[in-house]
Amino acid sequence: MIKVTNLKKRFGDLVVLNGIDFEVKDGEVLSIIGPSGSGKSTLIRCLNFLERPEAGVIEIGGVRVDAEKCTNKEIRQLRLQTAMVFQNYNLFKNKTALQNVTESLIVVKKMPKKQAEELGMELLRQVGLEDKRDNYPATLSGGQQQRVSIARALALRPHAILLDEPTSSLDPELVSEVLQTIKKIAEMDTTMIIVTHEMDFARDVSDHVIFMADGNIVEQGPPAELLDNPRKERTKQFLRTFHANRKR
Ligand SMILES: Nc1ncnc2c1ncn2[C@@H]1O[C@H](COP(=O)(O)OP(=O)(O)O)[C@@H](O)[C@H]1O
Ligand SMILES: [Mg+2]
Repeated sequence: MIKVTNLKKRFGDLVVLNGIDFEVKDGEVLSIIGPSGSGKSTLIRCLNFLERPEAGVIEIGGVRVDAEKCTNKEIRQLRLQTAMVFQNYNLFKNKTALQNVTESLIVVKKMPKKQAEELGMELLRQVGLEDKRDNYPATLSGGQQQRVSIARALALRPHAILLDEPTSSLDPELVSEVLQTIKKIAEMDTTMIIVTHEMDFARDVSDHVIFMADGNIVEQGPPAELLDNPRKERTKQFLRTFHANRKR
């Protein structure tokens, strides 16, 4: 399971995370929603120390790191517990789809190439791209590139997958294939934290939703409660604005 306690991060004078607490049980999906600039990306990046928090305790898959007193070795162990899926895919441009997926298996796990390729093909099958194994990213659609990056994230069998707005860069007609892929992976009991603006998807796939604003968790709960029956005025306002913008 994942447990985050009193996580704090500032950039200069700007407090971006103001003491964040939450838990995700094994196999569960947590969605994080909130206005732009509320600290969602910073939160997810602090979980693997892509950003270094000033304070707080992060526990993932049995590794516990106290940001105020931790060693580089602990940070390395923590990083192995998660894999990240970025808004802009971040694939290696000079590697094929299959090579993107097998890279970490060969370099980090020292897996023999043939075995890595067999596992890589299995993962490409899971995201529906076995016929694209030899394609370079430039010859794939945005949706296909994002599905490769999801297969790559699964390769090292991390304790959890962290997805930061995985469909925000996609043309509208490509969003659903990626959401369907994420849903399928979630149904295989993958633990996930996903920052998203796709409210219908969040309602459908999440076990738990957090609404963030200004570096704080304003409200959290099951999706049906938080998205359809929010208690806090700030949450209601965000959802109203969101639905109004969508109708336009
Ligand atoms: N590397 C950085 N240096 C300075 N300020 C940053 C940095 N990264 C993010 N911020 C600021 O922190 C706040 C939260 O950003 P972010 O976590 O990206 O929000 P969100 O993902 O919710 O849109 C914003 O005000 C943003 O400008
Ligand atoms: Mg962001």
